[in-house]
Amino acid sequence: MIKKICCIGAGYVGGPTCSVIALKCPDICVTVVDKSRDRIAQWNSDKLPIYEPGLDEVVSQCRGKNLFFSTDIETAIQEADLIFISVNTPTKTFGNGKGRAADLKYVESAARMIAEIATNDKIVVEKSTVPVRAAESIMNILRANNKPGVSYQILSNPEFLAEGTAVQDLLCADRILIGGEDTLEGQAAIEELCRVYEHWIPRENIITTNTWSSELSKLAANAFLAQRISSINALSAICEKTGADVSEVARAVGLDSRIGSKFLQASVGFGGSCFQKDLLNLVYLCECLKLPEVGRYWQGVIDMNEYQKSRFSAQVISSLFNTVTDKHISLLGFAFKKNTGDTRESPAIHVAQTLLDEGAILHIYDPKVEEAQIMEDLSPLGLSDLKTRINIYHDAYTATRNTHAIVVCTEWDEFMELDYKKIFSEMTKPAYIFDGRKILDHDNLQRIGFNVQTIGKKLTRAAISRVWGSQTQV
Ligand code: UDX
Ligand code: UDX
Ligand code: ADP
Repeated sequence: MIKKICCIGAGYVGGPTCSVIALKCPDICVTVVDKSRDRIAQWNSDKLPIYEPGLDEVVSQCRGKNLFFSTDIETAIQEADLIFISVNTPTKTFGNGKGRAADLKYVESAARMIAEIATNDKIVVEKSTVPVRAAESIMNILRANNKPGVSYQILSNPEFLAEGTAVQDLLCADRILIGGEDTLEGQAAIEELCRVYEHWIPRENIITTNTWSSELSKLAANAFLAQRISSINALSAICEKTGADVSEVARAVGLDSRIGSKFLQASVGFGGSCFQKDLLNLVYLCECLKLPEVGRYWQGVIDMNEYQKSRFSAQVISSLFNTVTDKHISLLGFAFKKNTGDTRESPAIHVAQTLLDEGAILHIYDPKVEEAQIMEDLSPLGLSDLKTRINIYHDAYTATRNTHAIVVCTEWDEFMELDYKKIFSEMTKPAYIFDGRKILDHDNLQRIGFNVQTIGKKLTRAAISRVWGSQTQV
């Protein structure tokens, strides 16, 4: 029976996952460790290092009872029956596979640490998204450094939570996937982990596979989701040139029960720490397996996403009379999606960089992204006058005041409820709105007097004058 769990890595995955395990398994003691003192201090404070709806409540219910955050990695590993490896696996930035392969240095260092410290049997579970056959590497490290009498079982248990809905996703997971070795010991380890999840997940929703299927399923699930977005985004470009409306198309297509309606929201492009990284990883795997045609197929999903981000940014510039030099442009939203403060691979970074390259002055507001994070994300541009060209605000009204255009980059609910009449009255005219998330009431905005552009729908002049009618206020 698992009595103590250690999780190495207190990030977006490890933190929420272990908090929910602690909530649902009062008989198990969960210790989340991280090498970053700052991160652990934040997990132990009132302001958690990540924003997730509902997470504060879960942590405050369990912390100090059966949920602990610590930098004492050694003790936690020593005492645990089961260890989750939940460290980051970024895309390699140098060497073999640069720009595509996942960098396993953090996974490897966690495995070496376990091998060094463990003095009794452990079940080691890879939670981080890893390339197929990573479990084998972990196993090699552990078994090559094995102390006498210590044995290991390695399981793959990928996490499918999405940021912004992490707690809900964990509480009501569509499925739990556990991969392990097809041996008696492997099956026994799978059974132990199943029992942890069975505290709240119905047994029929816990599926078990071999290790490689489990690892590949995680990459495949993310690749499929990303592919749906690239598919609808590709159609959005056709819509803009033909008069079709991508929302109508998505609805009509999504009602086919074989296709389904989710993940068909056309947008400025997908972001986040997973989709691009996992697709690159899959493409790299195909190259290593000498399957170039398969690699090219998935590469197309990434290429379409890049195209969408560039297309949207270019549309902003061309609409503003082909120059944004010294124009003030407000960006509403900087996170890669709503309900998170995470900006990893956020399409807003692409849009901001393009506009800055063209000489614009940006006014940025996001409800949850810290100012320092925005500056860090944009600093690779190396513009000497970056600080004077980026202004960060704490509300949408001051952010949009005296600007020429608003660019909506994240679908935060609060952007739908703004008083756009007031905003319009305080903007430079003609005032533009570029809705990169299709969340605003475009007819209403046009009635107010905005020039409105969005993804996947051509708002023609005829359409504009029809909507404006006699109420035109320009
Ligand atoms: C298709 C659409 O399903 C239908 O809605 C449209 O009106 C016409 O085109 P059809 O071509 O008759 O219908 O058959 P369908 O069941 O879609 O199969 C098409 C091909 O895909 C077949 O060769 C089928 O064997 C293959 N297929 C289907 C697979 O290889 N795998 C699958 O999972 C599903
Ligand atoms: C994703 C997967 O959903 C999750 O299962 C996996 O564990 C990690 O990767 P995440 O990246 O946190 O989760 O968020 P997700 O909701 O998938 O959104 C990813 C990006 O796609 C966001 O930028 C989002 O705005 C965009 N998106 C999503 C669209 O543009 N259109 C859609 O219809 C859905
Ligand atoms: P994810 O989104 O996959 O959860 P994050 O970057 O949010 O990734 O979190 C990963 C965490 O793992 C970071 O806080 C990092 O400090 C931690 N980490 C990486 N390597 C180790 C290690 N060897 N020991 C302990 N913590 C580690």
